[in-house]
Amino acid sequence: MKKHLYIKTFGCQMNVYDSNRIADALKQLGYHQTDCKEEADILLLNTCHIREKAADKLFSEVGRLNEIKKKRATRGLDTLIIVAGCVVQAQGKEIFKKNHAIDLAVGPQSYHKLPQMIAEYLRAHNRLIEADFPAVSKFDFLPQTTHSEVSTFLAIQEGCDNFCSYCVVPYTRGCEYSRSLSEIMEEARALVQNGAKEIMLLGQNVNCWHGLDYEQKNEMDLGDLIYEVSKIKGLERIRYTTSYPSKITDNLINAHREIDKLMPYIHLPIQAGSDTVLKAMNRQYTVAGYLEIIQKFRTARPDIAISSDFIVGFPGETDADFEQTLAIAQHVQYAQSYSFKYSPRPGTPASLMKNQIAESVKKERLARLQKLLLEQQKAFNKRFVGQTIFVLFTTKGAKSGQWMGWTPYMQNTHVEAPNSLIGQILPVKITSATASSLSGTLIPDILNA
Ligand code: SAH
Ligand code: SF4
Ligand code: F3S
Repeated sequence: MKKHLYIKTFGCQMNVYDSNRIADALKQLGYHQTDCKEEADILLLNTCHIREKAADKLFSEVGRLNEIKKKRATRGLDTLIIVAGCVVQAQGKEIFKKNHAIDLAVGPQSYHKLPQMIAEYLRAHNRLIEADFPAVSKFDFLPQTTHSEVSTFLAIQEGCDNFCSYCVVPYTRGCEYSRSLSEIMEEARALVQNGAKEIMLLGQNVNCWHGLDYEQKNEMDLGDLIYEVSKIKGLERIRYTTSYPSKITDNLINAHREIDKLMPYIHLPIQAGSDTVLKAMNRQYTVAGYLEIIQKFRTARPDIAISSDFIVGFPGETDADFEQTLAIAQHVQYAQSYSFKYSPRPGTPASLMKNQIAESVKKERLARLQKLLLEQQKAFNKRFVGQTIFVLFTTKGAKSGQWMGWTPYMQNTHVEAPNSLIGQILPVKITSATASSLSGTLIPDILNA
């Protein structure tokens, strides 16, 4: 009988990538991925620990999965509940105490061990956890990817040595690590062969990627890597995320000028607009330094879309500090943004700071910032109404006959067409725009030309 695997993913793009790789590894054991929990022999949650809200989701989710497990048991079916990801790394064995239904737990650097762990569990029915930072890379043990998606992720760098004072990532993902050029190129080629037209290169600090060229002679940075990846035939678009501001090199900025396949978009989180807060956050740049980098990107590629993450209500953030965050957002005019209330995380230095901000203040600041950011996003999108822009179609829309894709500037775009457009890059005339998406019509003249 065919065995099935259901995966639910929380958190960042790296977790989405990891889930794809977990599916690759379990496919070798005969598990096929499904969207239907009831038919799944393995129910797997890939978790995130970045904010309290994200981590809390685990407990309610495990409860829900356990109900399914019990129902399946009445049909005589065994079900394995596996938890993976950053919460496992952060909590270690404690995770079993709080969640009795979990059978196996595996951290983000150990999931290549899952096949072995599953075999062991099926034999002895012992709960197991693997949450070390192994001396060897998980990538050496994972099979080549069979994942196929038009727009897909490829992890090139993992971990973080920056230790921003609020952040759990250095503890959950470990120290910085760059995959080798040949390993990345091999995976990129496989993804393109499986149908990828767009690859998003991923890293917690993606622009810290570094490696040696094929001759093992010269040092390469992310700009050089993008150049190599851009040579792959059939690959149309390249993106990368997330970048750390002070590590941006001129070579990377130049890549935006010179490499057509590199999309005009940069996610460059500033987090806060006050130098005092940035210092307390242990971010290694000033507001002026950040703005200088933005200016360089805009000079190299005047149409580049810029996005950011923001944290409001960091310990000690005054009204005046927060006003500076609003001012910086106003100045940069972001195309997209993600903003969060500061969430104290166990084990981080900021969680021990005395001057924590009241929840009501955080809430009010977040509402004000989000209002501004949403207006900017809407204004950015509205500028495209009446223009024709190339869209890479990736999925079906919500309505029948509707297709969804992305502009070079990462705007979600819908059009209607009788036949599937998935995998094609087509010119679309934009007819309307909201803060979250664009709508348009295909241009038949160009299509038939
Ligand atoms: N490496 C990336 C960010 C990874 S985490 C960078 O340095 O920019 C994604 C985002 O979550 C962060 O940019 C930050 O805005 C937010 N974040 C991280 N820890 C947080 C916390 N404790 N409270 C609120 N937001 C947080
Ligand atoms: Fe977290 Fe800072 Fe590292 Fe980003 S750079 S992952 S925010 S510690
Ligand atoms: Fe969350 Fe881990 Fe990503 S904590 S944001 S899933 S690196």
